Amino acid sequence: MTKRVAILISGGGSNMEALLDSMEGDHPARPVLVLSNVPGAGGLAKAEAREVETAVVDHRKFHGDRTAFEQALHERLEQAEPDIVCLAGFMRILEDWFVARWDGKMLNIHPSLLPKYPGLDTHARALEAGDAEAGCTVHEVTAELDAGPILGQARVPVKPGDTPETLAARVLRQEHVLYPKVLRRFAEGEKTPIFLE
Ligand code: GRF
Repeated sequence: MTKRVAILISGGGSNMEALLDSMEGDHPARPVLVLSNVPGAGGLAKAEAREVETAVVDHRKFHGDRTAFEQALHERLEQAEPDIVCLAGFMRILEDWFVARWDGKMLNIHPSLLPKYPGLDTHARALEAGDAEAGCTVHEVTAELDAGPILGQARVPVKPGDTPETLAARVLRQEHVLYPKVLRRFAEGEKTPIFLE
C-alpha cells in the first residue's frame, strides 16, 4: 500500500525538493501535501511546480497563541491523511500534544551529528568546538527537541578555513542524499539506522 507523505516547510525547501524528486517509480511512498507556516515560502512554488498540493497555516495569524496555531496546523494535516510527516526546514518547535498525535509517523532532519548540537547554530558550534567532522541526522520526532530515535546520519569533514556557511553547504548536500534514503526505508517499515560517510 503506497504510503502518503506530508512535508512541512518554513523556507526554501531544498530537502523537500529532494524528497519529492525521490518519490517516483517503485518508491513505496507518494507526496500528498506540502504545508508551510510561512506564506510565500520558497518551497511552496517548488512543490506547485511538481503539481503537489500545498497549503499555508500562517502562525502569525494566531498572535502568539501556539496551541491555536498548532491545532489549525494539525487539522490541515489530518485532511491530507498522511501516513508519514516529514519536517524539512520546518522552523517551529511543536508542542508535546502535537508530537504525541503524530507519534511514530513524524521525521525531522537536523544539521548536526546528534546527540551533538541539538537546537540552532549547529555549524558555528561545531567550528567553535574544533570538530574534525560534522553532518546531519534524520530522526523520529519525539517531545524532546532533536532527540528522537536516530534513523540515519551522514558525516562530512570540516575543512581548514570553513565558515558556518561553507560547512552548512557541504552538510546540506548530504542532507539531500540522506533524507530520501531514510524516507524510503521508513516507508518500507525499516527503522534500523543507516550511516553515510
Ligand atoms: C537545513 O539545514 C535543514 O537541516 C534544517 O533547515 C535547513 C534548510 O533546509 N532543518 P531546506 O533547504 O529548507 O530544506
